[in-house]
Amino acid sequence: MESLDEKKLPVLGNTLETEFKELSDTNLNTISELHAFFPHWKKSSVQKKLNATLNGSDKRFVALENGRIVAHARVFFGKGLHKHRAEITSLVVEPSHRRHHIGMGLMNFIMKNLPSSTELVLLAVASKNKPAIHLYKKLGFEKYGVLKKAALVNGKYVDNSLMKKKL
Ligand SMILES: CC(C)(COP(=O)(O)OP(=O)(O)OC[C@H]1O[C@@H](n2cnc3c(N)ncnc32)[C@H](O)[C@@H]1OP(=O)(O)O)[C@@H](O)C(=O)NCCC(=O)NCCS
Repeated sequence: MESLDEKKLPVLGNTLETEFKELSDTNLNTISELHAFFPHWKKSSVQKKLNATLNGSDKRFVALENGRIVAHARVFFGKGLHKHRAEITSLVVEPSHRRHHIGMGLMNFIMKNLPSSTELVLLAVASKNKPAIHLYKKLGFEKYGVLKKAALVNGKYVDNSLMKKKL
């Protein structure tokens, strides 16, 4: 497994540099920046979730530009019989930074830094979320099923496409 040290990758050959890393702090800036991504959570709830991450419940990865978080994703790891599985959730790129391959870069960074025991990466995406589905297909994910009524969004049920990628 590669080290989880911070890495810098150029984006699209322009002057912007995006840095991808595993989230490893719960300082006030981090809490505020993540709160901006998930405004429906209270700041105290963001802090609890980050504490749980630092205590090993999951891992979170971020993309930074000029030291500021511009994208986030969370990874759960299987245990015991499911040790070969990882599930990626909560991928989000700040609206003003979309279409700069940051989502793609963060997903690739995560997949390069999964434990060596990981053979299968899973995710679920709203079946109508074309940008995300395009991104995941480009990364080699394939659809293996549909979970009907997977989420209740603004009072309406939404189906999820279930996707997998073998490493
Ligand atoms: C989906 C999301 C993460 C994509 O992030 P992004 O950084 O803008 O995506 P990228 O620039 O890395 O795009 C990579 C590829 O995905 C596809 N893609 C991304 N956005 C797209 C869009 N709006 N329409 C069509 N295809 C799109 C393209 O194939 C793109 O490659 P290309 O630009 O060379 O054509 C971003 O739109 C987002 O945060 N959406 C809201 C949250 C969300 O839906 N998260 C997914 C939860 S499962």
